[in-house]
Amino acid sequence: MRTTLNKASILVTGGAGFMGSAFVEHKLAQKDFEGKLLVLDLLVHTLCEERLKAFNGDARVHFYKGDIADHSVLKEIEKKHGLDYVVHFAAETHVDKSIHDPFIFVKTNVEKTTRLLDFVRHLSQCHFHHISTDEVFGSIDEGSFYETDAYAPNSPYSASKAASDHMVRAFGKTYGLSYTTSHACNNFGPLQYPEKLLPLMTMHILQGKPLPIYGNGKQTREWLYVEDHSSGIDAILQKGVCGESYNVGSGVEMTNLTLIKKLFKIMKKEGLTCEDQVDPLITFVRDRPGHDFRYSLNCDKLRSLGWAPQYSLEKGLDAMLKSWLTSQGSLESLSRDKAYIAWVEKQYGVNS
Ligand SMILES: NC(=O)c1ccc[n+]([C@@H]2O[C@H](COP(=O)([O-])OP(=O)(O)OC[C@H]3O[C@@H](n4cnc5c(N)ncnc54)[C@H](O)[C@@H]3O)[C@@H](O)[C@H]2O)c1
Repeated sequence: MRTTLNKASILVTGGAGFMGSAFVEHKLAQKDFEGKLLVLDLLVHTLCEERLKAFNGDARVHFYKGDIADHSVLKEIEKKHGLDYVVHFAAETHVDKSIHDPFIFVKTNVEKTTRLLDFVRHLSQCHFHHISTDEVFGSIDEGSFYETDAYAPNSPYSASKAASDHMVRAFGKTYGLSYTTSHACNNFGPLQYPEKLLPLMTMHILQGKPLPIYGNGKQTREWLYVEDHSSGIDAILQKGVCGESYNVGSGVEMTNLTLIKKLFKIMKKEGLTCEDQVDPLITFVRDRPGHDFRYSLNCDKLRSLGWAPQYSLEKGLDAMLKSWLTSQGSLESLSRDKAYIAWVEKQYGVNS
């Protein structure tokens, strides 16, 4: 029997990251949420400082800088607040980084997740929700993935996420851990670190820089605004069945090239670029090794819990752009950061 979510102590690992902090914000916006949000994050890299500062004023949030594998900090949190739910966002998340260094992905996503699970399994009445990805299913030419489809991960990132999914399931079967898992498609929204496609392109369009696009740009992704992801996770925590997994997608599919052209058009309309045309900015660069061609999720199972996404792509892009403009300070300092610029140049082989 799970504690009522509205009064629960919820540990949000990776709660200072892009999606974790959006989930915290989502819960805080609920006036009837009287529980606690216990944010545990190592602050590996994040642009969410402003959002974290806003959380500081809310007595329902408690922030802990620490590692998911560190049982002493987990014990401290549990002793002080009790733990009813763990929502596990913390991970190494960038596919390109996983190609350069797969070992850190095994370390964080598999080994450290297992240490976290080993802590949680000893707690009575604590439910574990695992945030996974559509990428564990691999690439699909036609149709959509169902939760029951076989795993076929193609990158070290997705393989490490798949391994952690299996570990969560194994802890459920072996030790009786109460758990659910969700597979999300590509999320976008405010304060995403600009190693990811949309924030990188936004930053480059703002600055009139080349737009590096992998291969021929025809890879197809499904795009979900991050607030819709948060409400999907909320629905699973409230109504999801233990031991089940749920796809969280929007049904909005697009090639990378079409998406970038759409973004440029909106930014042009809003007066956010002096460039007249996007085509001269587009620079096709060597494709990512093992690059999946298309992802697509069937989300009937989550929709049957009463959830539906509320943001169109345009509304989401608008909200994302507004947030970039209000956090211009961090964006500008990042764009002057020599290490970051060197990283973009190395990554894409273009002069940023
Ligand atoms: N971004 C997407 O489109 C997407 C899609 C599907 C699934 N996911 C999954 O969602 C989750 C969150 O992704 P995101 O995009 O917010 O990533 P992010 O990189 O913005 O956030 C991850 C957070 O985890 C923290 N972290 C990393 N290692 C840690 C450790 N050992 N201990 C404590 N904290 C640690 C980081 O500091 C960071 O704040 C990940 O599990 C990712 O695999 C992301």
